[in-house]
Amino acid sequence: MATLSLFIVLLFLPLPYSYADPDPLQDFCVADLKSSPSVNGFPCKSALEVTSGDFFYDGLSKEGNTTNVFGVKVNAGNVLVFPGLNTLGISMNRVDLSPGGIAPPHLHPRSTESGIVVEGKLLVGFVTTGNVVYSKVLGAGEMFVIPRGLVHFQHNVGDGKALVFTAFNSQLPGSVIVPSTLFASTPPVPNDVLTKAFQVDEAVINGIKSKFGMQG
Ligand SMILES: *[C@@H]1O[C@H](CO)[C@@H](O)[C@H](O)[C@H]1NC(C)=O
Repeated sequence: MATLSLFIVLLFLPLPYSYADPDPLQDFCVADLKSSPSVNGFPCKSALEVTSGDFFYDGLSKEGNTTNVFGVKVNAGNVLVFPGLNTLGISMNRVDLSPGGIAPPHLHPRSTESGIVVEGKLLVGFVTTGNVVYSKVLGAGEMFVIPRGLVHFQHNVGDGKALVFTAFNSQLPGSVIVPSTLFASTPPVPNDVLTKAFQVDEAVINGIKSKFGMQG
């Protein structure tokens, strides 16, 4: 009887049909990025206009310029720059980091991330919803995984540059960069919220906002 009730309960639960982007319904659907109206993903451009060029992308071949405060350059190979990825549920990034550089704490709302270090020495870590950090220093050829939606970071702890390629189970994983989300949004998150959240006074919050070129 208990087994039967459990079966009936399971029958009516809204079970997930996909763990990341939905499955494609045809071989390909090269994105028509300019089409309106917009839909979830992008409409397909006419198959008659599809060429080999739609399935190749060289945007990750060049070293990124890491001359910035974080010492990092992320080149995203997502559907917005590589329309052939549309409906296929995957994408990749190239991340260059100068010595000491960081990918600041961030998360991808629509994707799990895996990555492989190609060059350098990289501390990779993520934080669980229970505030436990899992991390490791990786060298060339070593791989990592970041569970979907969890805050994570990368830090070049070597003497030279670091290079990592990351892969996502989403054509457009999205990035929530924690520092800029909180301190450089438009319009700004109110100082009253931030002073209470971080238990500091307003001068500290304004100091951080000014680092991002924002007014208090
Ligand atoms: C890298 O970026 C910095 C800061 O924007 C700029 O001054 C520099 O010229 C760039 N270097 C190259 C090689 O493009």
